[in-house]
Amino acid sequence: MLTKPNIDIEQYLSKKKDLVDEHLRKLFQNEEYKEPKELWEAVKYSLFNGGKRIRSALCLATYESLTDDTSRLNDCLTACASIEMIHAMSLIHDDLPAMDDDDLRRGKPSCHKAFGEATAILAGDAMLSLATQILIGQTHEISECQKLELINTLTKAFSFGLVPGQILDLYFADKSATLNDTIKIATLKTAELIKASIVCGAIVGLNTKDTIKDKAITHLSTFGLKIGVAFQIIDDILDKTSDTKTLGKTSGKDEEQKKATFPSIIGLNEAKKMAFDLTIEANDELEKITIDTLLLKELANYIVNRIN
Ligand code: IPE
Ligand code: IPE
Ligand code: MG
Ligand code: MG
Ligand code: MG
Repeated sequence: MLTKPNIDIEQYLSKKKDLVDEHLRKLFQNEEYKEPKELWEAVKYSLFNGGKRIRSALCLATYESLTDDTSRLNDCLTACASIEMIHAMSLIHDDLPAMDDDDLRRGKPSCHKAFGEATAILAGDAMLSLATQILIGQTHEISECQKLELINTLTKAFSFGLVPGQILDLYFADKSATLNDTIKIATLKTAELIKASIVCGAIVGLNTKDTIKDKAITHLSTFGLKIGVAFQIIDDILDKTSDTKTLGKTSGKDEEQKKATFPSIIGLNEAKKMAFDLTIEANDELEKITIDTLLLKELANYIVNRIN
């Protein structure tokens, strides 16, 4: 076991989830999200259907670790909304028949099952561009430079991380992948967006000219990549060991599709050990910066101990 939590991280996550959900709901109150009904219903269905909001919690925890100034909290929540849109659209597309062909997501029929494939694809398209648009139109306290940094961080994580990772994930199905291939896939498809969520919290939390900025972002990025890979290892382990009801998505799917996963390559026990080791390394990385990193460490511990 890793260090025992001395803050209630489940409660922290639940509070942040409520904040992010409320912020997202406010964004979608506008008239322009009413018609065509089919499109926006599909978007809202996929965005508000639960989800742990772990990327948002990491973004907010980073912001809170770097500043007491709450004047940019609302902009940080807009960054979280953007991150959740990118994440949710990646799940819609991940579930499509051409990809993982999964009928269940967050305990409900996946988007294409509820709305049809064409609408699911288009809902994903809308969410992806909206994720950038809100960073421009719905942030009010951060500078133009900070807006550009947020956009740069998230679009890079998507184009050079998540999408190439998803392509490799599909390519390596039913092929003999090495552990290094699997680490590469996990880093790209999952860890890059998790890292970016943390970096976004730092961009909003720090001034552009803050002297600790570059150093903080370097170590926070390493932390993010390590817990991001650990996150995917646990996702692979749970796919094998948990059940559909607990997960809210079809368990046993990876084996069925012969995916290159950590348990399939190094076995369950080694995979678990690798996730825990990565978390320890990630938390050590935070020692290199002089900020209060307790929250981030507790979130890292939550990630490896989670049950869904
Ligand atoms: C699932 O992510 C997809 C992966 C990157 C493994 P989450 O486990 O964060 O999904 P939600 O948002 O809580 O449903
Ligand atoms: C997907 O990985 C990662 C994404 C970028 C969406 P998985 O295919 O393992 O995610 P789940 O298990 O379907 O949530
Ligand atoms: Mg997948
Ligand atoms: Mg999948
Ligand atoms: Mg999975």
